Amino acid sequence: MGADVEEIENKGIGTQSSARFMEIAMARARVLMDSDRGQERWVKPLIRAIRRKRLRLPVLSPMVQRVVKLTESPEVDLDELADAVSRDPVLSTRIMGVANSSYFRGSTEVPNVRDALMRMGVREARTQVIVVALRSTLLRSSGLGESAHRLWKHSLLVASAIQEITLELPPWESTGFLAGLLQDLGQLVVLAFVAELPAPQDDGSAPSEESVEAILDATHASLGAMVLASWGFPEEFCEAVLAHHNSSQAPESASSLARAMELGHHIADQIEEGWPVDSAELPECLIVLGQQSGVEIDRLVDIAAEAEANVEVLSKLS
Ligand SMILES: [Fe+2]
Ligand SMILES: [Fe+2]
Repeated sequence: MGADVEEIENKGIGTQSSARFMEIAMARARVLMDSDRGQERWVKPLIRAIRRKRLRLPVLSPMVQRVVKLTESPEVDLDELADAVSRDPVLSTRIMGVANSSYFRGSTEVPNVRDALMRMGVREARTQVIVVALRSTLLRSSGLGESAHRLWKHSLLVASAIQEITLELPPWESTGFLAGLLQDLGQLVVLAFVAELPAPQDDGSAPSEESVEAILDATHASLGAMVLASWGFPEEFCEAVLAHHNSSQAPESASSLARAMELGHHIADQIEEGWPVDSAELPECLIVLGQQSGVEIDRLVDIAAEAEANVEVLSKLS
């Protein structure tokens, strides 16, 4: 455990990559402010908060960090994972609850975390542990209520889509779900900032919905990468998050993951809008993004169906 804490401190805010993503976030916020002076009153304090490291950032406990790290390995060791999960009573209880739910239909109640993970199987165990561990981290630490819940639901859908896309995309086969769940992490940071803006402003106004959207568009990817770097996530993972809305700009080492993330995001958006019965009605951008990841239209349809089904199960379980 001591080693984990040390690791977080060594890789904490202020490390090179975290600082670099911080610069990018400020630069992008400045571009937004320059292009729309009406944003100045909201964006200026945001830039100041980033520079002074005053933003309220989601915190990953050393225990959760260790659990998430273990799930990232392609050959996840269930014994080791069970051991890590067992150290946290809340996490253990929830994982056993999931394994004992009707979905996994065991004939007997599982007595411990190890048996719970065994019952689920490696792939499912990995997903469930990530969901259970990050759900509380993201929903509870944000204090954002409804908007955090909405974002969580969207992220589950994105994660389920990316998980399918990366199944045959080395070396990201076992990373897709986690990447999907965390790609919009920066949105939590922006939303928490907006919620805490010195209120009421002189005239009692708050940023309009459009204004918040524009700030999110401009900064969420870089702020997400910044937080993940501070959590000690690998450089390529952070780079992929930085580029998840413009994957062509990702460095080579992160480009296939960034492309999968961009595609996953668009698949999720299309599902939320309503997936067309006739594939000919799918938007061009989705088809092009699919082709870039070697995903043809039929497979796109399958991925969307799998993702939707997966989210349905996950929402029942969590
Ligand atoms: Fe995003
Ligand atoms: Fe998204």
